[in-house]
Amino acid sequence: MSEINALDPQQYIIKNEPFYRPVSDEVELFESAYASRMPMMLKGPTGCGKSRFVEYMAHKLNKPLITVACNEDMTASDLVGRFLIDINGTKWQDGPLTVAARIGAICYLDEVVEARQDTTVVIHPLTDHRRVLPLDKKGELVEAHPDFQLVISYNPGYQSMMKDLKQSTKQRFGGFSFDYPAEQIEAEIIAKEADVEMSIAEKLVQIAQRSRNLKGHGLDEGISTRLLVYAGQLIGKGVSPNKACRMALITPLTDDLDILDTLMTTVETFFEE
Ligand SMILES: Nc1ncnc2c1ncn2[C@@H]1O[C@H](COP(=O)(O)OP(=O)(O)O)[C@@H](O)[C@H]1O
Ligand SMILES: [Mg+2]
Repeated sequence: MSEINALDPQQYIIKNEPFYRPVSDEVELFESAYASRMPMMLKGPTGCGKSRFVEYMAHKLNKPLITVACNEDMTASDLVGRFLIDINGTKWQDGPLTVAARIGAICYLDEVVEARQDTTVVIHPLTDHRRVLPLDKKGELVEAHPDFQLVISYNPGYQSMMKDLKQSTKQRFGGFSFDYPAEQIEAEIIAKEADVEMSIAEKLVQIAQRSRNLKGHGLDEGISTRLLVYAGQLIGKGVSPNKACRMALITPLTDDLDILDTLMTTVETFFEE
């Protein structure tokens, strides 16, 4: 009987190079940060390329990548591990953070502010000179593998007093500020990801930019690069651009009928019915 060995780094290696279009010097800077194993935070709106960047860097550095999507119900045990009870008694099971520390993976905590602060503090001893992870319940002190690096992402737009990282957490990280790529680069990304003509990709970006101007004026967030890729993919499948935009860009964005109307009018100025 074969069982998956959670500690086999090979399963976390990204085999095919993810497509990532650098927007500035972030690739070189991340390499320098990794060289000193500096913990990194990636800030930016949803769907602007943060996760794709981490996948690309893990592949480029040839390191295993373990991603954890954080949420408010997540406990410290979900990160570090817990005892499980089965017919043979109790058995310790490492959580994803512990596995990453043991095997020397890049551990990516996505949307880390979603987690409660008592959960977030478990990363503290891993993100300073100690580079250790105490498993209190098990009575073990895991020393991080020399290749281990912690990367977190968050969207400052969703921040509130209730949901923010403590200074004592923030000041353990180097940071990158992500945003939607510049017009021409974003169009290139959409043309490549969705396999559509540049002329279509450019129009999609124009529509997104109009919506991004509505941020704070009825919209919490504008249309993301991710949604533009979706719209492009629908168009590539033969859906009319108008319908594709309604489905991928407009409907998911808001429930406000006035804003929906405004955005559909914008779409119609670029793509006729
Ligand atoms: N610089 C980029 N290079 C390539 N694809 C990108 C880039 N930025 C955004 N994308 C596209 O946008 C999508 C959403 O990006 P993602 O990394 O998932 O966003 P998030 O910032 O929410 O983690 C990706 O799946 C990819 O198609
Ligand atoms: Mg992401």
